[in-house]
Amino acid sequence: MIKLSPSILAANFLKLGEEIESAADAGADYLHYDVMDGMFVPNISFGQGILKQVAARSRIPCDVHLMIEQPERYVESFAKNGARIITVHAEATRHLNRALHQIRECGCLAGVSLNPHTSPECLKYVLGDFDLVLVMTVNPGFGGQKMIPACIEKVRDIKAMLDAAGAAAEIEVDGGVSVETAGDLVRAGASVLVAGSAFFGAKDRKSYAAALKALG
Ligand code: DX5
Ligand code: ZN
Repeated sequence: MIKLSPSILAANFLKLGEEIESAADAGADYLHYDVMDGMFVPNISFGQGILKQVAARSRIPCDVHLMIEQPERYVESFAKNGARIITVHAEATRHLNRALHQIRECGCLAGVSLNPHTSPECLKYVLGDFDLVLVMTVNPGFGGQKMIPACIEKVRDIKAMLDAAGAAAEIEVDGGVSVETAGDLVRAGASVLVAGSAFFGAKDRKSYAAALKALG
């Protein structure tokens, strides 16, 4: 089954409440919340104060993607403010194992994200410590970019690695995901689709969500 996680980075912030509702109404499974610190990525978005209000309004779990340096500094705070899934970047922490355990101890599902150039090899010794792998299919920092085709093979490699280890973690893909690009990613093993501009820019979000989910 394919799950959909619309990224509110592409929402109209002047009517954020309605945008959040529209994701759940369209049949989305999670609400993707992109946190950027201007250091790990060259952009700044929003933090845990806004998450608190978003999570209170959302009928679906908040899937928090931390694109920040030393994410372990903020895990507890995002958990307290309503995150249900917390994903950290392998490149942003010196202590990935510790950060993943910290996320689970806070009662959240733990995710590891990899930038497009990062080899899946770094997952090898933490298999079992995470619930999902977030494969960046663009260089993180901005919505509305084009999916990098080499990431399809990477998803396939990660899927093979998880299957060989008997690990049940899901593969989530993020960046340039649309009905045009998601088919290849799903066939390679992705089961959670993040869609920002494609979802919030769709004329009919409900049918767009159904089309994405039907790819599985
Ligand atoms: C990019 C973010 C993505 C972004 C996706 O750094 O992590 O979640 O919002 O946006 P689209 O779907 O427009 O590429
Ligand atoms: Zn994201």
